[in-house]
Amino acid sequence: MEERVINGELQEEDSGIELSLRPTSLNQYIGQQTVKENLRIFIQAAKMRNEPLDHVLLYGPPGLGKTTLAAIIANEMEVQFRSTSGPAIERAGDLAAILSSLEPGDVLFIDEIHRLPHAIEEVLYPAMEDFFLDIIVGTGPSARSVRIDLPPFTLVGATTRAGLLSAPLRDRFGVLSRLEYYETDDLCAIIERTAEIFATKATDVASTEIAKRSRGTPRIANRLLKRIRDISQVRGEEEISLATTKTALEMLQVDEAGLDHIDHKLLKGMIDGYKGGPVGLETIAATIGEEPQTIEEVYEPYLLQIGFIQRTPRGRVVTSQTYAHFGIEQHPNK
Ligand SMILES: Nc1ncnc2c1ncn2[C@@H]1O[C@H](COP(=O)(O)OP(=O)(O)O)[C@@H](O)[C@H]1O
Ligand SMILES: [Mg+2]
Repeated sequence: MEERVINGELQEEDSGIELSLRPTSLNQYIGQQTVKENLRIFIQAAKMRNEPLDHVLLYGPPGLGKTTLAAIIANEMEVQFRSTSGPAIERAGDLAAILSSLEPGDVLFIDEIHRLPHAIEEVLYPAMEDFFLDIIVGTGPSARSVRIDLPPFTLVGATTRAGLLSAPLRDRFGVLSRLEYYETDDLCAIIERTAEIFATKATDVASTEIAKRSRGTPRIANRLLKRIRDISQVRGEEEISLATTKTALEMLQVDEAGLDHIDHKLLKGMIDGYKGGPVGLETIAATIGEEPQTIEEVYEPYLLQIGFIQRTPRGRVVTSQTYAHFGIEQHPNK
């Protein structure tokens, strides 16, 4: 898949800066009011009872702050944070090693939990429910099941695809929190905070402009800010200006709605080739030379969110907003 500056997934260029930008407490975590309020209450109650927090599942598109929030939960609970990912746990023994090394109350974070192998999932059920593991040791006739007691812990799972989680696994989470795309105001606040950490400043209009083009995603906002700051510095600006922001975003090929050339290709393809739809996912994929799954997981969610695409039983359609965005007159039979 082509690298896109407006892709919410973690990219090479983010890795150096992400850690320094991560808020460490719920108070520093901007937006996501409902999720935060719920977590605050659950955390407070668990601490009052002196019990570990219930298992938490965080889901939503990439770059919205799932990993950040998982670490914050551990901080707020004043316990250790241990982190792994679904694909990293290949054998039951891997899971046993991690779980038995935890201190009581610790947070174990499993990123991309939908990619946990099925056999591991089954080992996880009793661990989550009753804090023990049943592990098979040995093979053939000498194989036997060994029970390992575990310290009580909190599992925090994160996934971009809650739908792919098996029902029994999903049911074992006491708290299910869905992260939403951020409003412009919240993104502005995140951009201001990041600018401060970068020891730079953006004018209000500039940070609003960046926010509007960040697809509701903090990771993209931070990435754009970093790129724009470079250009602003070279231009000798004291504050990042709106003019520089617009020039930089034009160079990066990110339009007013946060769309890039691939979004354009997809939407224009639907308008030009299919009168705006309905058109099937497979057909769209073939038109722009991408995998249907990539379109569904990476390209489409934000276009659906801002109402540029709708799903109908007969396929995807573009909307009057899409036509307006491109300044194209809508097909007469629509
Ligand atoms: N609510 C927030 N407030 C401030 N910064 C945030 C927030 N959510 C995410 N970020 C920033 O965005 C980046 C991506 O967040 P991350 O937790 O890695 O997303 P995810 O795990 O959902 O892909 C982090 O570096 C973090 O600094
Ligand atoms: Mg993450």
